[in-house]
Amino acid sequence: MNTLVIGSGGREHAICGAFYRSKRVLKIYCASGNAGIAEIAECVNIEPENIEELLKFAKNNAVDLTFVGGETALSLGIVDKFGAQGLRIIGPNMSASKLEASKSFAKDFMFRHNIPTAKYRSVNSTREALEISQSGEFGGEESPVVVKADGLASGKGVVVAENRAEAVGAINQLHNLAGKSAAKKIILEECLFGREVSLLMFADGENFALMPPARDHKRIGEGDTGPNTGGMGTITDSTLLSAAQTEQIINEIIKPTLKGCADEGFPFRGILFLGLMMVDAVSGQRSGVSSKENSEPPSAAANSQLQPMLLEYNVRFGDPETQSILVRLKTDIVEICDAILAGTLDKLPISWHEGSSATIVLASKGYPEKPQTGAVIHGLEKLQNDISIFHAGTSKNENEEFVTSAGRVLGVTSTADNLQEALDKAYKAVKNISWDGMQYRRDIGK
Ligand code: AMP
Ligand code: GLY
Repeated sequence: MNTLVIGSGGREHAICGAFYRSKRVLKIYCASGNAGIAEIAECVNIEPENIEELLKFAKNNAVDLTFVGGETALSLGIVDKFGAQGLRIIGPNMSASKLEASKSFAKDFMFRHNIPTAKYRSVNSTREALEISQSGEFGGEESPVVVKADGLASGKGVVVAENRAEAVGAINQLHNLAGKSAAKKIILEECLFGREVSLLMFADGENFALMPPARDHKRIGEGDTGPNTGGMGTITDSTLLSAAQTEQIINEIIKPTLKGCADEGFPFRGILFLGLMMVDAVSGQRSGVSSKENSEPPSAAANSQLQPMLLEYNVRFGDPETQSILVRLKTDIVEICDAILAGTLDKLPISWHEGSSATIVLASKGYPEKPQTGAVIHGLEKLQNDISIFHAGTSKNENEEFVTSAGRVLGVTSTADNLQEALDKAYKAVKNISWDGMQYRRDIGK
């Protein structure tokens, strides 16, 4: 069959890789892809926003199955439009995509369905946001508070403010995005402390199948310092969640979410990504925050030991979680797509390679503020084939050499029996690769 993958990053390289391993795929198209993806797929120069062109392409090229990588096309209703023409496509429809496209919609949904999450206020103006931040509702002058823009903002719409002064700065900063719809509404949220886990699943509207739990590393600097990025590395490891915690997440978050979607008329089909905070209610206060200021325990977390709280939904695969997850997938991805579309995920056993995986992201000089591009990448030919390289931002120069073309450039992924081995393997491979100004975190998975 012919497949079309939509997107151009490391995530889409990993998705194309899974289709490449499928026994049932003859031809992979990727819109718009990158220089690494071009080695296993035919790249087509159509952007994810251009749904009419994608539709035309799929029809003219006998595409049997389309897989949407990112949120942009989903929030624009690509699934509704392909579906209306009888084309098979994996992803949630436009209504279900609002779980990611509008943070206030998602928070209201979580409250309607009693899903544990941080308490919040959603307001329509900077003035109201400033008033609430001054009111003491989210704590005193020195209490942290989270400020979010409502809409899609490519990871730039969330500020975890350490205190009230920073919150005021963040509100004004998000207001400056005002031309963009992302900042029309502002959300103020209780700040939770704990350990973050990404839990992804395949969903067919009713049934779901969990993927191995993953952890992203969002800050640019080691020890989780500096500005947020698109993600500097991920691991998958079974110890990220115990069986009891997984059970609790299924009962308190996943089942109510899938039932809520179905009851509200938008059964969720596709990939659902839970951004979770495992809140330690006893020691759940960050050092440096005085216990006086923080004497209110985080709402639902009170008196329980490790309470899973939902920070956010994403309605798609994560980047770079996908790179670490899909290298462990044994089942043919086409079988899974068929089951998602047929509503038969409960009948399909999905198997994963045992052990752990790690992805180290290699980024350009100046990322995330001002990434410099055009540097020639050295050393890719030295890599052993037990390492996967996922291209995120590469192109080729006139000498047919790979060059950097964006902030995040490559993901170096390995699998092993345990996390330490996976990390050692990935970091050893990283040592072979270089370009002018290449940067990466040396503490992924630590
Ligand atoms: P989101 O886009 O909602 O995932 O937010 C991006 C990041 O901000 C998350 O991965 C967390 O690190 C942080 N964050 C979001 N909401 C909260 C919260 N209520 N408390 C603490 N950290 C948060
Ligand atoms: N890695 C987080 C995301 O894809 O949103």
